[in-house]
Amino acid sequence: MQTALRAAFSESELASRANFVPHARAAREERPVHTSGLPLSIRGLRKSFGDNEVLRGIDLHIPVGQFVAIVGKSGCGKSTLLRLIAGLEKIDAGSISFGDEVQAEDIRVMFQEPRLLPWARVLANVEVGLGRDRATSDAQLRAEKALAEVGLADKRDQWPSVLSGGQKQRVALARALVSRPRVLAFDEPLGALDALTRISMQRLLERVWRDQGFTAILVTHDVSEAVALADRVLVIEEGRIAHDVMVNASRPRERGSVELAGLEGSILSHLLSADDRT
Ligand SMILES: Nc1ncnc2c1ncn2[C@@H]1O[C@H](COP(=O)(O)OP(=O)(O)O)[C@@H](O)[C@H]1O
Ligand SMILES: [Mg+2]
Repeated sequence: MQTALRAAFSESELASRANFVPHARAAREERPVHTSGLPLSIRGLRKSFGDNEVLRGIDLHIPVGQFVAIVGKSGCGKSTLLRLIAGLEKIDAGSISFGDEVQAEDIRVMFQEPRLLPWARVLANVEVGLGRDRATSDAQLRAEKALAEVGLADKRDQWPSVLSGGQKQRVALARALVSRPRVLAFDEPLGALDALTRISMQRLLERVWRDQGFTAILVTHDVSEAVALADRVLVIEEGRIAHDVMVNASRPRERGSVELAGLEGSILSHLLSADDRT
């Protein structure tokens, strides 16, 4: 299908069309320069809770450094998929592999709640992300660097309780970044933020992803966020990947552009039509 589409349309025509490319495998031309990401291959992945069959055969390959967004209606299994990828939950059948030996620090998850330790100052909260490396001599320096990356160097000695919601999420991002993860998974990390803070956090996520080259997997219920940030949007329905959509718009992306709005509209209409069927 992908090959057929590519033969039928020029690259720019493909980029400007809000089309669905089932199970696209196309590589993005514009890659982060210093790639530290890991590829991810999922085959025949299944997961049930009791007789609730949540994931019913997920097959997916994510190339190194790709930014993938996962959307789907509430309860469709997005968080479950993320937790399985992060090794926080046991798989029932199938496999997940990263094409390399993985260390625990290589894969990080950021959640909607910042989950900061209230009794530790901001810098110490970031150091927590170092895990075992927290005992090394450069731990503090690394934490300071991660805080600077999210623009919060001046908050290092504050308590979490005095920070705004957006600032807390930036500390959580610094804590995730400090170990230099090779896969960073986000579970609706911006869901609780107001609209403006959300947009500035989206820009921050895109910038750190470009700077660091990790493979990014973002679960979001916000389709406009998905098309603004991701190279590729996966729609989960009935336990499977129902649509696999490439977002070929160049970066930096123009929010509200006709191209992104068209893509957003077609993904939304798929989600809504799936909703009508249930
Ligand atoms: N630990 C669990 N025990 C039992 N059921 C669960 C558990 N985690 C998730 N589920 C169920 O699995 C389904 C998918 O949940 P989830 O992955 O959180 O969905 P999403 O993130 O897409 O909203 C839901 O029906 C939910 O109730
Ligand atoms: Mg969820």
